[in-house]
Amino acid sequence: MDLFDKCERFLNDPSYATTLGMPASPAVAERMGLYPYFIPLEENEGTVVSVKGRRMISIGSNNYLGLTSDPRVRKAAEDAVARFGTSCTGSRFLNGTVALHRELEERFAEYLGKEDALVFTTGYQTNLGVLTALLGRGDIVVCDKENHASIVDGSRLSLGRMMRFRHNDPSDLERVLRSCPEDAGVLVAVDGVFSMEGDLAPLPETVELCRKYGARLLVDDAHGIGVTGRGRGTAAEFGVNDEVDLIMGTFSKALASLGGFVAGDKSAIHWIKHRARSLIFSTSLPPSNAAASLAALEILESEPELVDRVNETAKRMRGHYREMGLNVGRSATPIVPIIIGDAMEAVKLWKAVFDSGVYTNVAIPPAVPDGKALLRTSYMAPHTDEQMEQVAQVFASLTGS
Ligand SMILES: Cc1ncc(COP(=O)(O)O)c(C=O)c1O
Repeated sequence: MDLFDKCERFLNDPSYATTLGMPASPAVAERMGLYPYFIPLEENEGTVVSVKGRRMISIGSNNYLGLTSDPRVRKAAEDAVARFGTSCTGSRFLNGTVALHRELEERFAEYLGKEDALVFTTGYQTNLGVLTALLGRGDIVVCDKENHASIVDGSRLSLGRMMRFRHNDPSDLERVLRSCPEDAGVLVAVDGVFSMEGDLAPLPETVELCRKYGARLLVDDAHGIGVTGRGRGTAAEFGVNDEVDLIMGTFSKALASLGGFVAGDKSAIHWIKHRARSLIFSTSLPPSNAAASLAALEILESEPELVDRVNETAKRMRGHYREMGLNVGRSATPIVPIIIGDAMEAVKLWKAVFDSGVYTNVAIPPAVPDGKALLRTSYMAPHTDEQMEQVAQVFASLTGS
């Protein structure tokens, strides 16, 4: 059998995608004008993007504080290119560590109240590295069922065993923890903010259960840093920073850059640093991204009102959508889902919203559970009230409310 047969079928046989658990073939969706992925942006000013020469309001980005277009962040990136060039051309382990990486680690550790931190090239690689480094044979990672793919992939790639509990359900977490053998090292891994519905993990209960069963806790706060806890993340929001063993975050969302980090005790970071293959065998974060992340952190620390603003905007939009009778799920952050259910209906609404000049994202299975297809709208601090009124009007007219 030719290994590439499936590729040929995926492109040309409309029914093949459904055997892979996909609702429709991407090629067919593209022909119907209903393909929502890989849309090239010609310009991106944050709250406004250009697609095919048309300017649109964007409610489809993780640029929560709007810092990708902040002149101070841009200048920091430019200065770093002038000083260090465009790439480190090597891994952190060997020739790819620059002073900016260490500065970033020290600043983030301090910001989050942890002893040390370690910077990776992406958030995805951070989770892969942390989980594979920590979980040896006989160890167990206990995951929320709606954890991000990078936690799932890191857990699968590790030598440990993955067990799962029902989304945000402490009693189911306890059931799983109770079943873990006494001699297994156990890590509970959860998203702080869940990336599709924007809901928060119940960290106080999770921390308590970890303590009761002697498990360690990793919180992936990719969507929490810069957004919850007045910027310091979901553990800070709940006042449990000291009880969370490892806080993972990314620079690719509120921090307007690229890269990931993990913060925790000195010995754990030291271990990960020398055992994480995704760190050791991959080229380090470009200096321009390290510098942009540092500049963004500085703004976050000095202007926490940006965090307040984006949360207020999201709260107002949740109110608008609820008034229209739309289902915004359990959102408590600038990620506000509009849950439609049926995948094709969600894609059609996404297209109608897009055609009305509003850029957003649609999530269908397997990115979300079956029957929970949604429009993933998300908000930024620099969104104006007028832009938000326009967006609300578009949804009101398309949903007949
Ligand atoms: C919850 C979560 N964790 C990890 C990642 C990976 O981060 P990055 O995009 O920086 O690789 C993402 C982003 O896609 C995410 O949403």
